[in-house]
Amino acid sequence: MVKKLLSVLKGEPQSPPPVWLMRQAGRYLPEYRALRANAPDFVAYCLNPELATEVTLQPVRRFHLDAAILFADILLVPHALGQKLWFAEGEGPRLDPLEDAAAIAALRYDPAKLAPVMQTIRNVRAAMAADANMANAALIGFAGSPWTVATYMIEGKGGTDHEKIRALAWREPQTFARLMDVLVDATSQYLIAQAEAGAEALQLFESWAATVPAGLFEAAVLNPTARIVANVKAKHPDLPIIGFPRGAGSWLTRYAEATGVNGIGVDQMTDIAAVKVPARVALQGNLDPVLLLQGGDAMRAEAKRLIEAMKGKPFIFNLGHGVMQPTPPDHVAELVAAIRS
Ligand code: CP3
Repeated sequence: MVKKLLSVLKGEPQSPPPVWLMRQAGRYLPEYRALRANAPDFVAYCLNPELATEVTLQPVRRFHLDAAILFADILLVPHALGQKLWFAEGEGPRLDPLEDAAAIAALRYDPAKLAPVMQTIRNVRAAMAADANMANAALIGFAGSPWTVATYMIEGKGGTDHEKIRALAWREPQTFARLMDVLVDATSQYLIAQAEAGAEALQLFESWAATVPAGLFEAAVLNPTARIVANVKAKHPDLPIIGFPRGAGSWLTRYAEATGVNGIGVDQMTDIAAVKVPARVALQGNLDPVLLLQGGDAMRAEAKRLIEAMKGKPFIFNLGHGVMQPTPPDHVAELVAAIRS
């Protein structure tokens, strides 16, 4: 039997649609918090195959979702490029920011640093295959897209308007292009290794597409993403790839046409039924995470509206962004039940 998620990514509509949630593994789950309490170093936690396997499986086991998403982080690529990365308690990610062209030229990708991630993928595939409740779930691997990862590498943290990287891209286009090249190469290698370890689909997170000025969109988003998709597909032509350019708004159609992805993640600000993409391209989204936090009738009504609006099209049910930390796990169970009824 073809797994539901993979069949939609081939362009075949399914009713009810497959469902998974961005950030489905995380601090809203008590079983996640219990493991995390004993693993204060978040990078080491992501690179511990036993812990990462268990955390990947937790939401699939609990909610019988149609996909597992690998437990890792988009900032493991800068870590493997030799940039210092740490997660300060309550502050989110921190990196020693790249200050100049010399710092960019010194980056070297060391795939051995991410070998534990491949072990996690093999463990998750084996565990899901052995459990009837999880055997129909597909394992999604992922990476950040170059612009989004580069914002952290240049700014050194999240929560800015990305003025430093925008200034760099305008002022020194060749240095910026060099950084995109380094990230295209590392990310392609990383995703190909994930495919070889057993990832059944891949997602590219472009979480900060909204801060890219229109004049840089081609150089910062479309071109690097298209090159990664082409590199992965050269080795694994049938492996589906989902791109999630959050906040890309009017660029979505161009993004679908220019990058060659099989599916597009849509944020909650966008009218998903009105997004124009080639018929083979699946759309994924886009329930407001606040509705999941809130639960109840409003959540169920909006889920129903989305499913009806996407009827007959290749559609994957998801949120418009990640599960929010205070979300009660029962609301996820209610949402999955509503989608399947
Ligand atoms: O369940 C899943 O979605 C799989 C695992 C996953 C994580 N991060 C684990 C994580 C995935 C797919 C990511 C992607 C990621 N990481 C993105 C893109 C998606 C998005 O949210 O837009 C980004 C921008 C990052 C960078 C990052 N990692 C930030 C900004 C933070 C801090 C924010 C926070 O919630 O604390 C992280 C930490 C992080 N990554 C956590 C998890 C579960 C929380 C860390 C903890 O346990 O303390």
